[in-house]
Amino acid sequence: MLRTHHCAELSKADIGKTVTLCGWVDARRDHGGLLFIDLRDRWGKTQMVFDPTKAKAVHDAANKLRSEYVISVTGQVAARPQGTVNKKIPTGEIELIVSELKLLSESETPPFEILDQMEVSEEIRLRYRFLDIRRHTMMNRLLTRSKITTTVRQYLDGQQFAEIETPYLTKSTPEGARDFLVPSRLTPGTFYALPQSPQLFKQMLMVSGVDRYFQIARCFRDEDLRADRQLEHTQIDIEMSFITEEDIHTLIEGMMAVIFRDVMDQSLNTPFQRLTYADAMNQYGSDKPDLRFGLPLKELTEIFRVTQFKVFQANIASGGVVKGLKVGGKIFSRKELDDFTQVAKDFGAKGLVWLKVKSIASSELESPIAKFLSPDEIKGLIKALELKDGDTAFLVSDEWETTCVVLGELRCRLAKELKLINHESFCFLWIVDFPLLEWNPDEKRWQAKHHPFTSPKEADMTSLRDKPAQARARAYDLVLNGTEIGGGSIRIHSQKVQQEMFKVLGISDEEVQSRFGFFLRALQYGAPPHGGIALGLDRLTAMLLRLESIREVIAFPKTQKGTCLLSEAPSSVADKQLKELHIRIKT
Ligand code: AMO
Repeated sequence: MLRTHHCAELSKADIGKTVTLCGWVDARRDHGGLLFIDLRDRWGKTQMVFDPTKAKAVHDAANKLRSEYVISVTGQVAARPQGTVNKKIPTGEIELIVSELKLLSESETPPFEILDQMEVSEEIRLRYRFLDIRRHTMMNRLLTRSKITTTVRQYLDGQQFAEIETPYLTKSTPEGARDFLVPSRLTPGTFYALPQSPQLFKQMLMVSGVDRYFQIARCFRDEDLRADRQLEHTQIDIEMSFITEEDIHTLIEGMMAVIFRDVMDQSLNTPFQRLTYADAMNQYGSDKPDLRFGLPLKELTEIFRVTQFKVFQANIASGGVVKGLKVGGKIFSRKELDDFTQVAKDFGAKGLVWLKVKSIASSELESPIAKFLSPDEIKGLIKALELKDGDTAFLVSDEWETTCVVLGELRCRLAKELKLINHESFCFLWIVDFPLLEWNPDEKRWQAKHHPFTSPKEADMTSLRDKPAQARARAYDLVLNGTEIGGGSIRIHSQKVQQEMFKVLGISDEEVQSRFGFFLRALQYGAPPHGGIALGLDRLTAMLLRLESIREVIAFPKTQKGTCLLSEAPSSVADKQLKELHIRIKT
């Protein structure tokens, strides 16, 4: 080793020892004669003192050091003089009186100062990510991520899981996003797809009898990027045989509790709350509700069953609903109410009704629709929404899903605006009983809500053909503070049911054979009942660190436009490479 200690290691107990440290030149302070320089490495910083009266040549050499030079120093650990102790850092009580200095590497002037807190654009940070990671804030995020994966590996190893890799060059997988394709040089005109998840391989490993599989797997999905979406993300991917939903829930709750204990030094209450998809939508307007605050939605359709208010009347007549949300006490300006109306429209509603309670005693409301409401309807509203004098409420009427989603979005915005969210808390819950299928209006066919290998509920097998909208899936999502951090299901293990499922999805036999034939063949050779889950590692890490974007917990992420600013990928390639792949670019 070129050093005896790292830069966060020395303390009062080491005073008098001769040590050698290596690292980067951080802040410097010249006190006319005495020169102080902080030496930085991954672990922390140590203050070095260059004293011209003790070692003139070393002091002169130190004077020439510039920011980010890499050096090695040898010297004696000394107590800091009284009044200069810094209790905030582990090495704050000592300093190193340097007697030997070696320059290991010079540095250009960096494009930004390596500070824990700094105002630099994300573009510059990503272009110089190798420097950005030198900042302790960024470094610690990656170290937390590493701690999470280590904890997960230890936990799963303790539960007899085997870590098995599956191919990255493979065939299109069924997660529903666009594939990244890789041209094959050896078989011209054919392509591999990068896996959107290891789904089919992990299921085949169950057919093999592996029984308990996991993988920290990279997944590739060519979809529009957002703060919580990357083109390549990492999943903690799990599959188990001979289990029910409860086994997966218990396993993951145990894993989260260990992550909280070992990484966050916090205890976590388990089991997590469970909510059906229908209840989550009805009560919170989302299949990933944030339960750190209340503001529940209330069902109001029956109150308006015979209303004279035309908009509600028409919606209810065509099978739609009316739902509402109360906000206690807060007076909104006209502009704020207009802004909320715009949010409702952006999320698909035709409008938003607001009302303020002037007087409960006289059933007096202020609202653009007040004059259309009967006394019974007003009374009904007051009761259902538990309104008090001065309260404001928002109503939406549309088909069920739009009504829920719009009010759900409004609920989240109101919570932010009214500062109802406790940012310290972590609120996990399971969403269960998802619908198996959803209607694709563009293609006019049913498609799987999760993926086509998700098992229907036993009781809903018969409704699969006749009432597909009502069939529920044995699927579950794990939600944390309003973000979906994981999803999985019990799978179909019978080839017959799997074929039935493909029929309902309108996938022809030929397409089934060409896309999934290899997998169906596996199901013919004794497939055990099995199920699994995948957790988004990037999202989980970002949430635990309370960061908005998953880019903050990925060493080398892509920008919103899907580019890597550091390597400048994607980029054009040499004609020779294209030729080898039998590819011609059309201009
Ligand atoms: P799913 O598609 O729900 O399930 O993905 C599992 C979890 O992965 C995370 N995730 C993402 N994170 C960042 N960027 C993305 N583009 C992205 N897409 C997904 C989410 C999500 O909950 N094979 C199934 C799992 C299973 O059934 O076992 C699957 O991939 O946190």
